Amino acid sequence: ATRPFEARQVIMNQDQLKALVGKAALDYVTEGSVVGVGTGSTVDCFIDALATLAKPIAGAVSSSERSSARLRALGIAVLDSNQLQSVPVYIDGADEIDHAGHMIKGGGAALTREKIVADIARRFICIADESKLVRTLGRFALPVEVIPMATAQVARAFAALGGKAVLREGVLSDNGCKILDVHGLTIADPAAMEREINQWPGVVTVGIFARNKASVCLLGTPAGVKTLIF
Ligand code: 5RP
Repeated sequence: ATRPFEARQVIMNQDQLKALVGKAALDYVTEGSVVGVGTGSTVDCFIDALATLAKPIAGAVSSSERSSARLRALGIAVLDSNQLQSVPVYIDGADEIDHAGHMIKGGGAALTREKIVADIARRFICIADESKLVRTLGRFALPVEVIPMATAQVARAFAALGGKAVLREGVLSDNGCKILDVHGLTIADPAAMEREINQWPGVVTVGIFARNKASVCLLGTPAGVKTLIF
């Protein structure tokens, strides 16, 4: 007997959704160009797919030692961002993304280099499974990269905003800095909060990506890849 359509739908787990969007991002890579590459488990899927790309690319500019190692292991050249004025696309995951393309990033402690590479990219293509899409940013604890001597001071500044900053134990960023994860914030105006926190002494980078928000989000859903354009 023929099963109803619902019963035939393939149920995909989060890893399969990540693989799906990692592959879908290949459509945004232009031949002969340098591609900006983010960090994380979704980006790992993208890097693996990039290694199978038929069209040639000039190489990648990477946002972490982790991604650089994976790229090199697959034979993809990693270029120095100082040698590049701009790249056509930056492809990266997110911890949360809202319906305007604002994101929380930094779950993998790579937020500073991610923002640097995103800033030279003409388009930010966010790849994420559907669990990352939220109405308002802030359920995921906000990562903030901080100069080690300022962690207590920055934590106190977050307490004054109603946030509870927790030091990520045993973690140093690729830049030798500490990461605070700030719980309990409701980020109603991402651009304003990003501007404010960026001014605090000791803050290297706040994981709100509003100034460098996504241009496109490829969202992995059980029904396939949904493309959100911002
Ligand atoms: C790393 C990041 C990642 O993009 C974010 O943590 C999402 O990771 P994943 O793809 O593993 O869910 O910002 O600093």
